[in-house]
Amino acid sequence: GRPQIAYRGEALYIEDCAVADLARAHGTPLFAYSTAAMHDALAAYRRGFSGRKLLVCYAMKANSSLAILQYFARQGCGFDIVSGGELVRVLAAGGDPAKVIFSGVGKTRAEMRQALDAGILCFNVESEAELEVLSEVATQCGRQARVSIRVNPNVDPKTHPYISTGLKGNKFGIAHERTLAVYQRAAQLPGLQVAGIDFHIGSQITEATPYLDAIDRLLDLVEQIEAAGIPIKHLDFGGGLGIDYAGDTPPAADALWQELLAKLDARGFGERQFIIEPGRSLIGNAGLCVTEVLYLKPGEAKNFCIVDAAMNDLPRPAMYQAFHAIVPVQQRGGAGATYDVVGPVCESGDWLARERALNVQAGDQLAVLSAGAYCMSMASNYNTRGRAAEVLVDGGTARIIRVRETPDDMLRAERLLD
Ligand code: LLP
Repeated sequence: GRPQIAYRGEALYIEDCAVADLARAHGTPLFAYSTAAMHDALAAYRRGFSGRKLLVCYAMKANSSLAILQYFARQGCGFDIVSGGELVRVLAAGGDPAKVIFSGVGKTRAEMRQALDAGILCFNVESEAELEVLSEVATQCGRQARVSIRVNPNVDPKTHPYISTGLKGNKFGIAHERTLAVYQRAAQLPGLQVAGIDFHIGSQITEATPYLDAIDRLLDLVEQIEAAGIPIKHLDFGGGLGIDYAGDTPPAADALWQELLAKLDARGFGERQFIIEPGRSLIGNAGLCVTEVLYLKPGEAKNFCIVDAAMNDLPRPAMYQAFHAIVPVQQRGGAGATYDVVGPVCESGDWLARERALNVQAGDQLAVLSAGAYCMSMASNYNTRGRAAEVLVDGGTARIIRVRETPDDMLRAERLLD
């Protein structure tokens, strides 16, 4: 699933750029993204929905670097945001606020006002309490908030428990049994205008079945709500489609949506306005992180390969025991050894990979693959480590889109005692 990231001879390339050259020019750790991979991932969704009314709202939490947002905005995408900060990023990147939807269980009044002033497309409301507050805030601003209720369809997406969101026990959405009553309330509230309905069942989903089940439940609800005299303009199917990290076989976006659209057509919903909120599947496999091997530390129980990237740069292994493929930037002949790849942070949880066969020496570079999504956007300054630099590759050109964070940057917001 990563045709733009491949070896030419022994050297790893991202599009027409040698990864070693990027590391030499910009240092490590360094994130590099392929424009062509982003393009192809978006095109697969658009193919799946061709001839339909589709708005792709990129779930920017996956990677919210400004140039990445700018790329998707220029392709006509909207954005799924979850904070006022993300809205500021959309606007700074030239995104269209009229294509923004606002998800999340904890929107503050200030964030609601900010989004109303910007004129966003829709609030994806996650609770009855939020619905009341939103109506109040909108009325105070002299506006009407367009709303969609996030339905919790209670389906098991069969993914990691931390990233499952559509089960009864999750904090997200409104139980489907309550949905009709909540729409009736929304239709009465003065500050609200019912626009759509949405679900998002989880992330890194590798099967079609949970989507198919969720769509059936969603359409049952739309029929009930519309029978009660409340029209639903758009149907939003969330994000969550998985990517290939390690031989995972998620359905292809175009194939999945053709299957789902057949179901929508059969039930007479094929002509509606559709919204999807993909994050990981648009950017995850477009990115890699280059890191340098600092030390090899052979041991009795384990061999460690200590690299200059760490859990603050690539938090997914520590947080979700996630697997990222790691490959040499320049292949060496021969067998090598089995290593745990770890970073410099002072925690046993600071590992990037376990039990990997690698033929490496200190000073070599490694590429952590599938690092486009939920890596830089989740990066922290733990251990006062500055965040990495980022480049966006397009053919043989690599443009710097984020300079490496300096100690001064990290200290800027802090104040000493008198
Ligand atoms: N829509 C909503 C309402 C969401 O909560 C999310 C992700 C998405 C869309 C996009 O989902 P995607 O297409 O990227 O799967 N940090 C975790 C993933 C957390 C996902 C949170 N919600 C990870 O690194 O695996």
